[in-house]
Amino acid sequence: MAPTDKIRSKDSAAPLHMIDIIRKKRDGGVLDEHEIAFVVAGAASGSVPLEQLATWLMASWLNDLSVEETRALTLAMRDSGEKFSPARLGKTAVDKHSTGGVGDKTSFLIAPLAAACGVAVPMISGRALGHTGGTLDKLESIPGYRTALTLDEFESVLLKCGASIVSQTPSLVPADRALYALRDRTGTVENPGLICASILSKKLAAGLDALVLDVKTGSGAFLRDPAQSEFLAALMVATAEAAGTRTVALLTDMGQPLGCAAGNWIELVEAVELMRGRRPVESEDLRELSLILAGWMICLGGQAATPEIGHARAEKALMDGSALRIFFEMIAAQGGDVSVFDDPAGFHRPGATEVAHAWESGFLAEMDTTALGWAVQRLGAGREKAGEPVDPHAGIVFHARRGAQVERGQPLATLYATSAAHLAEPKEILRRAITFSKTPPDAVPLVEQIFTRDSAQEFLRNAVR
Ligand code: URA
Repeated sequence: MAPTDKIRSKDSAAPLHMIDIIRKKRDGGVLDEHEIAFVVAGAASGSVPLEQLATWLMASWLNDLSVEETRALTLAMRDSGEKFSPARLGKTAVDKHSTGGVGDKTSFLIAPLAAACGVAVPMISGRALGHTGGTLDKLESIPGYRTALTLDEFESVLLKCGASIVSQTPSLVPADRALYALRDRTGTVENPGLICASILSKKLAAGLDALVLDVKTGSGAFLRDPAQSEFLAALMVATAEAAGTRTVALLTDMGQPLGCAAGNWIELVEAVELMRGRRPVESEDLRELSLILAGWMICLGGQAATPEIGHARAEKALMDGSALRIFFEMIAAQGGDVSVFDDPAGFHRPGATEVAHAWESGFLAEMDTTALGWAVQRLGAGREKAGEPVDPHAGIVFHARRGAQVERGQPLATLYATSAAHLAEPKEILRRAITFSKTPPDAVPLVEQIFTRDSAQEFLRNAVR
């Protein structure tokens, strides 16, 4: 018997049918928790056909999920498979998750930084989604690195290193595994309820005591409208808190790629450079955001009285080499070959390389970061179809950041592609995505707003949805 056969509607003993649920959502109805559980069980077991799941996703995207529907979806997805219990780690388990960005490699810094400061970091991450890169795809640039660990293996890496970064598996949050891949192919990524349930189901299945959310806003965010980003932040905090996990969300700028590298291997190299104590100016936003997020994790994990003290502790771990030691230990414990970091440039073998030069003089005023993310994916760093391999060596290194004054002909970015044929479209996208101005653009704060349980509830009370 398929698991969905056991789920009955709220009002009667009659079995549920996917077609009725699709039609209800299509017509603007609000689904109850039984109907949502039916969809989730069908996604996890494969008993609901993909065309019906895809249609339900589109109906939910178009009509939005209510706060209650989102909560029900999150919990049903969390419970769709095995769960991890951090009880035997003997430490507070805290993680961070971002809503997705371009060049967003903070996880590589944050996980070892928080672990170095006494917090356990069981991190279940995702793959490239839409225009954004995926932590797992980036880690798999390292020869041998295994992301699909069993729960026992996950626990033993955590006991040894304090941090482990893994994927959801057929047994761990299987509903998200199915829905995530389908959303990526059906244009149903950019929706607050679906994003909330996808992220939190993974995080809650890891049994976290606390969670720090990095909700992106600006031209590279899934939700470009700042009001939508705020809503997402409040929705996620309220949903996670209601499920018993202490949570804060920071609304952070994704109006340009974070740091200078966007791709797979080149992002790992940028993160490791910082953990080697180097401080290139073009990585300064990445460094600062990582320390802020780690500071919150260390504070929520009970290892610092305030996020600011947590920030200072994290900075010490960055500079004294302890974060790098933990990062390399974690890679080795998951089967990865850390020797590739001995000569990062030697390991980097893109099929084709081209430097793009500034086509006019002026200040780099705006970057359409979503478009830049698609350029990175189409160089070979992302996939056209689910399950395809990604090119570890493809991506873009930006030589100028927003606000920089550049002269015509100056190198703007280096593009690394799978082959010369992969260069033409990304080069064109890059040209259209960057605009110059005669005067410097206004500075944008890295962290725009912070939501805690109380401010999230207050926000949702006032939001009409
Ligand atoms: N990250 C996820 O895990 N899911 C989303 O939907 C977006 C970002």
